Amino acid sequence: MSDRVRTAILISGRGSNMAALAKAAEKPDFPAQINLVISNIPEAEGLQKAADMGIPVAALDHTHFNNRRTFDEEMQKHLLANNIELICCAGYMRILSPWFVSQWPDRILNIHPSLLPKYKGLNTHQRALDSGDKEHGCTVHFVNEALDDGQIIDQKTIPIAPNDTSESLAKKVLKLEYPLYSKSLYRVAKNIIASK
Ligand code: GRF
Repeated sequence: MSDRVRTAILISGRGSNMAALAKAAEKPDFPAQINLVISNIPEAEGLQKAADMGIPVAALDHTHFNNRRTFDEEMQKHLLANNIELICCAGYMRILSPWFVSQWPDRILNIHPSLLPKYKGLNTHQRALDSGDKEHGCTVHFVNEALDDGQIIDQKTIPIAPNDTSESLAKKVLKLEYPLYSKSLYRVAKNIIASK
């Protein structure tokens, strides 16, 4: 059995961060491996990307479940069946149930397109512009029960240019997200290995 940290990525859409993490994890010295990608949206573009990269995928349609907890219990079965040790949310657009979060203390990461604690939730780029901010960026953090709120692992900042729009900022920030998330996963996985 490999000593790399078995990692699952949760997605809901495009999956470009997922693909960046999976690419980073292809390097032989990377301390995590991507063993499973789960989407709550069966049509998510990222599922095909993951399958094309040879990663096992699971599509769990959340509309088929009565509530958040029963959906998360199903997700948990897939994670345990694949011996997953660490979870990365990457454009996963569902709030995890407190029960699920309690099963994975310090083992769920998320990337958020703002300099947390600023702009939790949606429309982060427009909100940064509307506030007249001079800087914007992205954050990788551990997930706790509250939205976009857990301990910050790392952040990357860029200046906001006078002609920036929500779209231009989204593009610039997304480019920062890939290396930031890979670096954070590297660090967290290394720590898990060191603590074994
Ligand atoms: C990213 O901006 C991420 O920060 C946010 O949702 C977006 C997901 O994009 N949580 P992708 O699906 O990784 O392309």
